[in-house]
Parts: sequence; C-alpha cells; structure tokens
Amino acid sequence: MRTLWACNVSGGPFQFTATKPGKTPVGLEEAHRDLRISPAEFDEVAAELGRTLDFAKVPKREKAEVLAAFAAHKDEVTTGYVAAARRG
Ligand code: HEM
Repeated sequence: MRTLWACNVSGGPFQFTATKPGKTPVGLEEAHRDLRISPAEFDEVAAELGRTLDFAKVPKREKAEVLAAFAAHKDEVTTGYVAAARRG
C-alpha cells in the first residue's frame, strides 16, 4: 500500500485506494491513528527511505521530491501520538 501511495503521489500511473480513507485521497491519518507513531519514529522511517533511495542511486532532485512528499504527511501519520500526548 505504501508503494502504491508513493506511485500515486509521484503522478502514477498506478493508483492508491485507502483501506481507511483520510480527509484526502492520499490522507494517512486514519491508517495510522491507532498506531500512535511518534515524530521521532516517523523521522527514522524517513531516514531509512533516504538511505534506500541512495542505495537505488535515485538522483538528488527525485530523492528530494519523494522525501518532501513523505514530509508533507508527517502530521497525519503522527496524529494519533500527538492526540494521545495532549490527552496526557
Ligand atoms: C509518510 C510516511 C508514510 C506513508 C506514506 C505511509 C503509507 C502507508 C499506507 C498507504 C498504508 C495503508 C493505508 C490503507 O490501507 O489505507 C500504511 C499503513 C501502515 N503504516 Fe504507514 N506510512 C507512513 C509512515 C509510517 C510509519 C512512520 C510507520 C511506523 C513507524 C508506519 C506503519 C504503518 C503500519 C503498521 C501500517 C498498517 C496499518 C494497518 O494495517 O492497519 N507508517 N502506511
């Protein structure tokens, strides 16, 4: 599902259809809410993505575009953790 999501935000042609739809067609808040993923955990997954793109010799510009697409959904992915932290 994450691969299809990445294909979708990269312009296709493969499309992503959420199992737990968020506010937008590629919204990730509902898929991750109960997992309570912390910003630090998110950053480590993003760092691993960066290392993988380097391993695959993805050029600088495309690498930056993929990482930016992930970063744009950080608040959605970590929403469960942030809400729980607020509730204390
Ligand atoms: C921007 C970064 C991320 C993207 C694009 C992403 C993408 C996705 C997608 C597309 C799904 C399936 C959603 C659906 O079926 O509707 C999913 C599920 C999941 N993601 Fe992520 N994810 C991200 C970050 C993370 C992180 C940081 C973790 C854990 C540290 C994580 C763990 C999971 C797990 C465990 C599921 C399965 C949930 C279930 O089956 O109920 N994801 N993710």
